Amino acid sequence: MLLVDPAKKISFNRYISDGDLVIVYERHDNMKAVKVCKDSVLQNRFGVFKHSDWIGRPFGSKVFSNKGGFVYLLAPTPELWTLVLSHRTQILYLADISFVIMYLEIVPGCLVLESGTGSGSLTTSLARAVAPTGHVYTFDFHEQRAVSAREDFERTGLKSLVTVGVRDIQGEGFPDDFCGKADSVFLDLPQPWLAVPSVGKMLKQDGILCSFSPCIEQVQRCCETLRANFTDIRTFEVLLRTYEVREGKMESCQADESGSTGSLPCKRRQRSSEGSNAKEVSGSPTIMARPSAEARGHTGYLTFARLRCLS
Ligand SMILES: C[S@@+](CC[C@H](N)C(=O)[O-])C[C@H]1O[C@@H](n2cnc3c(N)ncnc32)[C@H](O)[C@@H]1O
Repeated sequence: MLLVDPAKKISFNRYISDGDLVIVYERHDNMKAVKVCKDSVLQNRFGVFKHSDWIGRPFGSKVFSNKGGFVYLLAPTPELWTLVLSHRTQILYLADISFVIMYLEIVPGCLVLESGTGSGSLTTSLARAVAPTGHVYTFDFHEQRAVSAREDFERTGLKSLVTVGVRDIQGEGFPDDFCGKADSVFLDLPQPWLAVPSVGKMLKQDGILCSFSPCIEQVQRCCETLRANFTDIRTFEVLLRTYEVREGKMESCQADESGSTGSLPCKRRQRSSEGSNAKEVSGSPTIMARPSAEARGHTGYLTFARLRCLS
């Protein structure tokens, strides 16, 4: 996923080798992670694909089966890994993940603490954000989940950037070794307020905490506890709307003189005709855009807070 060489430099290997992890992409909602093995084949509804045909090709290649069907072989980025990983728990998705990484100001070299690890969806992106010189220490009290997460980080090549610990963070807090060393802390726990006092000890001065909770009652209780030692406490809900944009023929929905397009959700004329007041010719091809039916709704609330400086 992200090769870090002994000199701590990130290398972007763009060609597929034996033993690599690739994302076999059929369509945006149908992909899977496959380890390349020169003697193996992949069989799906499009036919049989020989892995040996994949070796030496650049990531992004379109490869063909014995029946002429095709798939794309994509590099296993954190964005795609989140869509193919095995769900051992609820996970964070792209919209929340990207917001978290920006708001927590995570950059290469940061030390980040996380609990719980869950399926490692967020951890994977945290690892890439801190690479090549930072580190993510992630804790889950569920032993088997920690084992599976370690296996995944090994598979995705992130092992040197992530350490998974087994610990009850709500009960015991983070280990004292990290006192005053964390640039940021992320919590995805059922009772995050129990971990807040420990987070206060772990963060560097003006370090930032983020807590993800699906219910507003958890947010309220967490904010109450945060007020003692944190400042700039803010809660967000990130709502993502996906659009389907394609060329099609509009049967109704003609623009009137005022530019109104009637009751259809959205139609915008192509750039070449923008600005003119020509009416739409019924049946002519136009670009249509409408909100996708599969758009994800509420996932959770993200509460951010900055440790109050003592001096
Ligand atoms: C919803 S999952 C986290 C998902 C993760 N953010 C992801 O994106 O894949 C919550 C995790 O917290 C762990 N957990 C719950 N209570 C805990 C505690 N007291 N200490 C440590 N981990 C805990 C659970 O075992 C579970 O794996």
